[in-house]
Amino acid sequence: MDLKGRDVLNFKKYNREELEYLIDLGIKIKKSPKKYYDSLKRKTLVMLFEKSSTRTRTSFEAGMNQLGGHAIFLDWQSSQLSIGAELKDEARSIERYCECIAARVREHKTLQLMANAVEVPVVNMLCEKYHPCQGIADMMTIKEKLGGFEGKKLVFTGIANNVSNSLVVTGTKLGMQVTLAIPEKDPDAIDYELEKMAKKTGLYEETTDLKSAVKDADIIYTDTWVNMEYMSDPKFAKEKERRMNTFMPYQVSAKLLKDTGSKAKIMHCLAAHIGYEITRDAIDHPNSVIFDQAENRLHIQKAILTSLI
Ligand code: CP
Ligand code: NVA
Repeated sequence: MDLKGRDVLNFKKYNREELEYLIDLGIKIKKSPKKYYDSLKRKTLVMLFEKSSTRTRTSFEAGMNQLGGHAIFLDWQSSQLSIGAELKDEARSIERYCECIAARVREHKTLQLMANAVEVPVVNMLCEKYHPCQGIADMMTIKEKLGGFEGKKLVFTGIANNVSNSLVVTGTKLGMQVTLAIPEKDPDAIDYELEKMAKKTGLYEETTDLKSAVKDADIIYTDTWVNMEYMSDPKFAKEKERRMNTFMPYQVSAKLLKDTGSKAKIMHCLAAHIGYEITRDAIDHPNSVIFDQAENRLHIQKAILTSLI
């Protein structure tokens, strides 16, 4: 499989075989990390962050190091982008120093602009619409835990957002049933083309009835009701409070599993907001695979980097 030079913006243009290839490579690298120690010797990844991160930053940086290469952390605010330098020109400069650019940005169009400006592959480390590296890492975790995708059901609850979009893209392409048990969608994340694509597979549905959806689910997945950039934004405080009330019936807890008799594995991309979208007893539940999910970010980043570079 040749994915050299490809961008990872949202996986909409990847087919099932390409996604399976990345997942299986992630599993292989996880089993025999030493075999890949020199895969990207002397190669450089530049990671541009317009927003905060724990897992994405550290897994890409550790991953690049473990492949024999190096990652440079570039904070938007301390780069010349903060004084109004044109993104196109900054990206054209950065590409002269590296083999791949990864970016976490507020708007997807920033990634598109960069991808159009440079020759090196561009990887989306999260934007308002997608979180593709999270989606593919989660599919790797699902494959490890459930053995495959056909006939398996993932229920995402909370607010439809960047993470659920990437679960819908990857999950339905891989043959999984993906159900959104949601009262609302994050207006910034809506992608009608994606919804149309997902509906066409016959594997996608939306409901407001979480309890019925979770009964026969293999996975129950949730994420924050408020994205990171708005969490402490005073202008968003009223909407945050509204969401905290509206979404409470969609909280994932040990009680939800008990009351519905669900055997579902519990997933969350983290960072979690305990007592809101998820309870402590769900994070630490025997069915929780949340920290394996976090670990698999590392292995799949390595699969993505060795494939694109
Ligand atoms: N899941 C995830 O992307 O985590 P960070 O925001 O900490 O990178
Ligand atoms: N939806 C969350 C995902 C964090 C990994 C956010 O954008 O903040």
